[in-house]
Amino acid sequence: MGFKTLAISALGVALSFTLGTFATAAEKNMMVKFVVKDEAIAKSLTGKPGNAVKGRKLAINRKLGNCLACHVMPIPEQTFHGLIGPDLNGVAGRRSAGEVRLLIVNPKLVNPDTIMPAFYRKDGFERVMKKFQGKTMLSAEQVEDLVAYTMTLK
Ligand code: HEC
Repeated sequence: MGFKTLAISALGVALSFTLGTFATAAEKNMMVKFVVKDEAIAKSLTGKPGNAVKGRKLAINRKLGNCLACHVMPIPEQTFHGLIGPDLNGVAGRRSAGEVRLLIVNPKLVNPDTIMPAFYRKDGFERVMKKFQGKTMLSAEQVEDLVAYTMTLK
């Protein structure tokens, strides 16, 4: 193998290495940066308003939002509503979208003792199943859909 071929194959290795790193970074659930101020995250995590119809479905979905497990919500087609958290009927009248966003992202930043899960955080958990390690429970888009739905609860 001449010097030229060697250089070219070395370049090939370097290239596939970089591409490989990109692929794994994209597969991972990349977290959006956000600013917490006055117990709220004022800006949408996606830069766009969420979809309240999708948010309602997420609130019911036991594998995703599962908000109903702890909260009463105006979702009559579901029989089980948990009573651990406050009734969310009328919550839009007492909380701003920014406050609701922070509560969904990580309520521990408001109340360190709360049992409400942090839906947009990927470190500091105990006993995380391997397939969930390094991942947030919800995507930024799903958080925004839930904020949009919660703000319809007037
Ligand atoms: C494991 C139970 C649990 C789950 C699941 C849960 N919450 Fe909560 N939530 C609570 C508790 C308890 C509180 C009361 C605040 C505290 O503990 O500091 C609360 C408070 C809230 C509040 C503020 C209520 C108020 O009256 O001001 C909002 C809004 C809220 N949750 C939204 C949600 C949404 C949306 C979901 C689903 C993505 C969710 N919660 C899932 C337990 C839960």
